[in-house]
Amino acid sequence: MVVPGSQHIEDKMYHPPEGLQKDAHVPDFNCYLELYKKSIEEPDVFWKEVASDFYWKKPPTGQILQYNFDVTKGNIYVKCMEGATTNMCYNVLDRNVKDKNLGERVAFYWEGNSPDHHEAITYGQLLGQVCRCSNTLKQMGVRKGDRVAIYLPMIPELVYTMLACTRIGAVHSIVFAGFSAESLCERIMDSQCSILVTADGVYRGEKLINLKQIADEALEKCREKASATVTRCLVVKHHALRTQDGDSSVNLTPVVFPVVQTPWDAACDVCWEEVMGQVSEQCEPEWLDAEDPLFILYTSGSTGKPKGVLHTVAGYLLYTSLTFKYVFDHQPDDVYWCTADIGWITGHSYITYGPLANGATSVLFEGIPVHPHVGRFWEVIEKYRVTKFYTAPTAIRLLMKYGLDPVQKYDLSSLRILGTVGEPINPEAWHWYHEVIGQKRCPVVDTFWQTETGGHVLTPLPAATPLKPGSAVSYHHIYIHRVHSVFSREPRSGLLLQVFRRPWPGIMRTVYGNQERFESTYFKKFPGFYVTGDGCRRDKDGYYWIAGRIDDMINVSGHLLSTAEVEASLTDHGAVAEAAVVSRPHAVKGECLYCFVTLKDCREFNRTLVDELKRQVREKIGPIATPDFIQNAPGLPKTRSGKIMRRVLRQIARNEKDLGDLSTMADPKVVEVLFNHRCETA
Ligand code: WTA
Repeated sequence: MVVPGSQHIEDKMYHPPEGLQKDAHVPDFNCYLELYKKSIEEPDVFWKEVASDFYWKKPPTGQILQYNFDVTKGNIYVKCMEGATTNMCYNVLDRNVKDKNLGERVAFYWEGNSPDHHEAITYGQLLGQVCRCSNTLKQMGVRKGDRVAIYLPMIPELVYTMLACTRIGAVHSIVFAGFSAESLCERIMDSQCSILVTADGVYRGEKLINLKQIADEALEKCREKASATVTRCLVVKHHALRTQDGDSSVNLTPVVFPVVQTPWDAACDVCWEEVMGQVSEQCEPEWLDAEDPLFILYTSGSTGKPKGVLHTVAGYLLYTSLTFKYVFDHQPDDVYWCTADIGWITGHSYITYGPLANGATSVLFEGIPVHPHVGRFWEVIEKYRVTKFYTAPTAIRLLMKYGLDPVQKYDLSSLRILGTVGEPINPEAWHWYHEVIGQKRCPVVDTFWQTETGGHVLTPLPAATPLKPGSAVSYHHIYIHRVHSVFSREPRSGLLLQVFRRPWPGIMRTVYGNQERFESTYFKKFPGFYVTGDGCRRDKDGYYWIAGRIDDMINVSGHLLSTAEVEASLTDHGAVAEAAVVSRPHAVKGECLYCFVTLKDCREFNRTLVDELKRQVREKIGPIATPDFIQNAPGLPKTRSGKIMRRVLRQIARNEKDLGDLSTMADPKVVEVLFNHRCETA
């Protein structure tokens, strides 16, 4: 998003605070370099040391990391700790409770959609609940290797279920509980799940969502498609039992809480609360091979059929635990909060597995940032004295719009490190996050990674890396193993394509059921390398600036422009809260830029502003980047994980009314508004 050579780049460095360096795991740059060197020169020694923190029923028999990244030499594979046997759940729970005596430590502060609803769950309690759930799943017929679909909101039962799967060797496939019945059905069918775990209903802000009904529709669709694999559905009575007793944050008149009419089929449905009470709190873990599958997670469906990214046990354990420890500099007295949903990879790696592997105390948040008020995030930070906070640029930009008042009401002095993930962060948002939220004392770790990478692959380390606002990473200061990555030049654009030459333990192993798609998507373009699909630029200090997906490039008169680049110059304007740029066919230029801008509250969209914005882009990037169209967008179509759906915007720009599957969109209503505001002529 930020381009060296343009005004966006900031050379000012923000150095790690001394206070943080004192006790940090990686206290300075030299220490980082030592680790870095070791990870390159002696990867086996390096990862063996990481592995020594965990319990292995059987030790590995060969080299710690074995792989082939070169399609011309045979199948692509990565193996970590081959020959070893272990269990994820044992390592993140039993080991903490029994070996480390952390049974009384809080694993999660669960904070509901309403501030009225909260509970603390210790490691000991978590282990008990997970064992009960493991026994329940076994009773329902789940065996090692079976796939279990999980369609749950951000409630403790989601963590219980995923860990229960790993305890008995089942493979979880979590589907974000905002996805439609169609998307859920597609995912269940692709991985042939035998059990579905869901809840009756959940409030998201003031909106009540009847999850069970959606789940039933999904199962019905699976049956229609004649490949129904789900035999039983385990249903948590979350709404009925946890939230119906009253919720002062939901503004309903009269004050009666709607009862979700939970459809029930006794032949298929099993009530969580009933069965969990009847089973034992003890359950022996299943010892798995290091390379047995751990989970499947489908990547965002904004383009084409979703891919079932498969991760395996040992490598994912080593990688998420190490990155969590170093990138958030985890300390025993921390209260850590990642605002993502566990339905996405960020939640898998940095709410469940990474933090638990480190015996961390985390906040598990069911709600949304603006309910019951726009200061909710800051209120929660004050309430739990959160020390490490990890969120997405889109949330920061949203909350920035409300100004300082909602932030200043709360005490944020507990914060020590801030993190971002999911998209490039524009410098304006970075500065606001750093100054207003972090009060200039907290480093911002901008972590670049993907569902496929399993964990952070490019990131500063908070006590060791000087930061540049908006730069995800620095070439020299990148995370330990990342030295193996190289950047190949895309012939025409001058942009660098981000690729990795060697694996790390947490990289995906295949696309579930489709090795061919795995190899062609990630390894065929540059034989010998894993291709992330993102572009970036390198500045004179060796810092890398992620330029967004290469597939978001627009070719205007033979010049390849990054949409992210144009978006950054639009959002630099004081009136613009958010911008998205797509291409529209142009008789002369081939393609031209069509820009959607969301204005800040109280700013008016008019001709003068349009002219100003065009001038600004021209000045910042060059005449070639002058937009042809600038459209007012009160809202942008986004996936539920907050990614802008450019496909939909492209179709609006071209006035194509048949938008196809919109099931991954958070709020489909914005589409009609955008069609109404379309620009016909430049
Ligand atoms: C983008 C999310 C810039 C990138 C963990 C990547 C980022 C895609 C950053 C993966 C960042 C993620 N700076 N871009 N810090 N983090 N991305 O699979 O385009 O949901 O390829 O994983 O998000 O998205 P995914």
